[in-house]
Amino acid sequence: MKIDVLLGLQWGDEGKGKIVDVLTPRYDVITRFQGGPNAGHTLEFNNIKHILHNIPSGIFREDKLNIIANGVVLDPVIFKREIESLEEMGIDLTLNLWISKKAHLILPTHRILDAASEAAKGKSKIGSTLKGIGPTYMDKTGRNGLRVGDIDLNFREKYEALKTKHQHLLKQYDYKYNLDEEAKFFEAIEVIRKFTRVDTEYEIYRFLEEGKSILAEGAQGTLLDIDFGSYPFVTSSNTICAGACTGMGVAPTAIGEVYGIFKAYCTRVGSGPFPSELEDEDGEKLRNIGKEFGSTTGRPRRCGWLDLVALKYSLMLNGVTQLIMTKTDVLDTFDTIRVATAYSINGELTDHMPFELDAEVKPVFTEMQGWNTDLTEVRSKEQFPQELKDYITFLEKELKVPVKYVSVGPDREQIIEM
Ligand code: GDP
Ligand code: IMO
Ligand code: MG
Repeated sequence: MKIDVLLGLQWGDEGKGKIVDVLTPRYDVITRFQGGPNAGHTLEFNNIKHILHNIPSGIFREDKLNIIANGVVLDPVIFKREIESLEEMGIDLTLNLWISKKAHLILPTHRILDAASEAAKGKSKIGSTLKGIGPTYMDKTGRNGLRVGDIDLNFREKYEALKTKHQHLLKQYDYKYNLDEEAKFFEAIEVIRKFTRVDTEYEIYRFLEEGKSILAEGAQGTLLDIDFGSYPFVTSSNTICAGACTGMGVAPTAIGEVYGIFKAYCTRVGSGPFPSELEDEDGEKLRNIGKEFGSTTGRPRRCGWLDLVALKYSLMLNGVTQLIMTKTDVLDTFDTIRVATAYSINGELTDHMPFELDAEVKPVFTEMQGWNTDLTEVRSKEQFPQELKDYITFLEKELKVPVKYVSVGPDREQIIEM
């Protein structure tokens, strides 16, 4: 068997959580391979809305194993909160959630360093979720980090040593902080002890040998990738498909389908370039109808038209084999829909992502007719209005990858297989 990967093709929040939940019945195991609680993945069913941060989106389906693999950075405090809110819903995850011993831990001082660094950047801040993601990955690559497996071996000592390093770093910033969260952190470590902690790379390999099916759930999106995103306005991990290999310890040859998920338009939360951004009534309309407010931070998301230059770049980097389009219903009342098909840079047209996405990069739009139809009750492609069929045909022709699912609302049921 191979591992299928589902990942975001834009700047995050494409609806990954919903789609993983929809696809989970077809798989035995769901994994997370990068990112941490900067992610906010929303699932809706039976009038319940649930947002997951550290935990894979397979947990609402019975008898599925969920794995937090080595590439993830785990915040014990947020993890404990998530576990407790699931317990309130009657879901006990101690048996079907495993954690890699090699996943790195987010300490309270990582979060403080994140906030201090952002405050020092002033206007050029990244717009981080302030969950300590950057500082934790810095400690990982700087070879200072603490891992889940460390909680069994002189943990307090290792913790104090790293905390002291962080306190030295914090002296460089004019930033007031306290360590009130420390007690909560150690309480949360006790919660982690209740879970199976293993070398998940061996377990994943064994599952593949046994013919079990695995779905890997990406976090963030391709345009936030540390190498290929709009650097420095990116997150600190590889969000692209290659990140699934290092983030789980699997060979590239073990990857099967790559589901690329995108919104029928575009959003971005936090700072950084966004060529097709709309700062007008249409942008406001997308935000209101699409309820575009961050699942993790509540910040309003910036909205714009679909950007095919960016999308083609994402397809290339990930080797996407199937496309999933979400939030299609959000465009239901637009008379005209625009799609960026090229960039004009100082008068020259290009369909490549430039090194610097600066103010000189102007999107070139193609206009299409809107469908002016309520899609939220539509359940088969035969019911699609002609204008939507045309929109999909246009995208498939441009992107050369088939659209396999179209999502028409936040609920688990609001999905059409093409
Ligand atoms: P993720 O981070 O990729 O999992 O996405 P988020 O959960 O942060 O943001 C997606 C938002 O859109 C959530 O509020 C979802 O409930 C919602 N959503 C997902 N698919 C659809 C859709 O097809 N239509 C509408 N209207 N909302 C959707
Ligand atoms: P999901 O998985 C959207 C953005 C932040 C910021 C930048 C760096 O829900 O799609 P970080 O906290 O990682 O240092 O922030 O990345 N960002 C996201 N935007 N969805 C996410 O995750 C994001 N995770 C991080 O807003 O601009
Ligand atoms: Mg999200």
